[in-house]
Amino acid sequence: MAHAPTDADYIMITPDQPLKPAPAILTTPAAMRRWRVAHPGTLGLVPTMGFLHEGHLDLVRQAREENRHLVVSIFVNPTQFGPSEDFEKYPRDEVRDLNLLREAEVDAVYLPSAVDMYPAGYQTYVNVEHVTRPLEGAARPGHFQGVATVVLKLFNAANPDRAYFGKKDAQQLRVIQRMTRDLDLGIDIVPCEIVREADGLAMSSRNVYLSPEQRGAAPVLKRALDEARALWAGGERDAEQLRRRVRAMIAAEPLAEIDYISLADDESLEEIAGTAPERALLSLVVKFGRTRLLDNVELR
Ligand code: PAJ
Repeated sequence: MAHAPTDADYIMITPDQPLKPAPAILTTPAAMRRWRVAHPGTLGLVPTMGFLHEGHLDLVRQAREENRHLVVSIFVNPTQFGPSEDFEKYPRDEVRDLNLLREAEVDAVYLPSAVDMYPAGYQTYVNVEHVTRPLEGAARPGHFQGVATVVLKLFNAANPDRAYFGKKDAQQLRVIQRMTRDLDLGIDIVPCEIVREADGLAMSSRNVYLSPEQRGAAPVLKRALDEARALWAGGERDAEQLRRRVRAMIAAEPLAEIDYISLADDESLEEIAGTAPERALLSLVVKFGRTRLLDNVELR
């Protein structure tokens, strides 16, 4: 969309449906802050990068039930993308997103621009230490610094009581939980279950990058995680054995290129050697062509 969206954008897309009240559209941190001051009472915040799917909408529905007011933010955050990553071509569809959020009875959509979030001279970043280092932190240097920074800025502008994050991005969830505790933010971080397509593929805005053949092969990730869960339920606790079985299933799929398969401590995300403790996180990243797919299962 070339211009800042207005009420007219909703009307273009849904001419003949009875319309729910349009959410307020807030395009600057100052506007977000003013709106919050004018809306006392519990506030739920759902941070997103847009191109919404059922995974996002599940967070939105849960937040709608648990709070008086509900704000969804849409911001494709440049500081969490590496120089050779997909920031420029990250999928965007603001008009569709706004209509979905209107249907979901969201009170306000926070849509800041990059220059308002990071004006000239910007130089302040949040570094969460150990938990950002392995896995996605190792594969994407600087990624979690960008995530923690933008999430803190969203929290500061919206001042929510609760914020909703998907377990799909398991390391991101742990980074935000750590930051929230360490910086005494007093916000309740609510983890939400992974939402999947009928064939098991975890929903993701990036799934649109997959070719039909890659899309057909991608459910192997869920089958491999189910296998790990079954082994765990059967009493298997040998970390290397669990990783090996998952690796073997995925390696049998010719279109899949394994980036990493990890069995890590559920909280610290340190890789487990030897016998797994009570709670562990099995997470993986597999590339189909240039698309990295993330998935995980909690083993308890
Ligand atoms: P985005 O990828 O748009 O995801 C927004 C939220 O939706 C995240 O909390 C993510 O974990 C959750 N989510 C995505 N797919 C999901 C699925 N299949 N099931 C359940 N939850 C799912 O994550 C980000 O944006 C950004 O890093 C952000 C936190 C907004 C900071 O820029």
